[in-house]
Amino acid sequence: MSSQAPPETPPIRRVIAVGEIALFVSDRGRHRFPAKVEAGGELHTHKGKVAHDDIIGRPWGCPVHSHLGERYVVLRPSLEEVLVTTPRKTQIVFPKDIGYILLKLSITPGTRVIEAGSGSGALTTAFATYVTASGQVYSYEAKDRHQEVARRNIDRLGLDEAVTFHLRDIADGFVERDVDALFLDVREPQDFLSAAWDALAPGGFFGTLVPTINQVVAVTAGLAELPFIDVEIAELLLRPLRAIPDRIRPDDRLTAHTGYLLFARRMAGPEEQAAADTEQINDEPVDRGQDPTVDVEPQIGAAIADEAR
Ligand SMILES: C[S@@+](CC[C@H](N)C(=O)[O-])C[C@H]1O[C@@H](n2cnc3c(N)ncnc32)[C@H](O)[C@@H]1O
Repeated sequence: MSSQAPPETPPIRRVIAVGEIALFVSDRGRHRFPAKVEAGGELHTHKGKVAHDDIIGRPWGCPVHSHLGERYVVLRPSLEEVLVTTPRKTQIVFPKDIGYILLKLSITPGTRVIEAGSGSGALTTAFATYVTASGQVYSYEAKDRHQEVARRNIDRLGLDEAVTFHLRDIADGFVERDVDALFLDVREPQDFLSAAWDALAPGGFFGTLVPTINQVVAVTAGLAELPFIDVEIAELLLRPLRAIPDRIRPDDRLTAHTGYLLFARRMAGPEEQAAADTEQINDEPVDRGQDPTVDVEPQIGAAIADEAR
């Protein structure tokens, strides 16, 4: 076992402090209001005002009342809740898809990942949370008003150090090289597969999300023309059930479709393979003057001869 101390992570506080995001949840969970906690701040709801001072220093999960007597329970929002309540100007990648994307692209601390476009920054938030300060998210967006929203959302969550924003159309290619993973959430991902291949490290993880089968066909065909392998196409379905003890049943309404996910791995190109061969030759010199079969054969012959004795 290693005697090394685990890397430091910020402590999770048990009491509500200024600067944290708190979620005020109504009794039946129907109304959920996120708010950044501020000294002297107030949450305005349709059922009255709640003073932030009433929750500062109290434990997460405590009840609090509005001035009209409505009860809310104050919770630390999960990452899923942060994502769905994030202010947005574009469609976002849904949490059910984000969970799978994180695993399929192997997003872990230290990962360098490119994404396009930034949109409202939902996927950026998830990537930035998982790559931590030792990794980096390179987030591309063509429209400045969208980038502004994504930036604000990332700043609000204190994740800015993990994200480099580019205001750039990816038709002009990606700046970074050798990244571990790359995800496209743009209208025509099939147009950018070659640029993605250029930016990824050999063996890197590629992913994209598209809303239509037609785009699935176009991306699959595009991947087949390039050195990509291990192509996977999937659609994830999530059917929430109502948690009412004596009437547990599916919700009436369902988000029936978000998108199709495609994943692939980038193969090494011929030049990279040749370069790696040369490196290996230089690292571990091999005496190519000797034919190994010449050495091996007499030994085998000797072993057979020994056995025969
Ligand atoms: C669906 S939104 C992305 C949502 C984002 N993944 C999220 O979870 O919040 C698509 C974004 O891609 C941007 N976009 C589309 N084509 C682009 C391109 N060629 N280069 C850069 N950004 C592009 C759009 O402006 C838009 O903001």
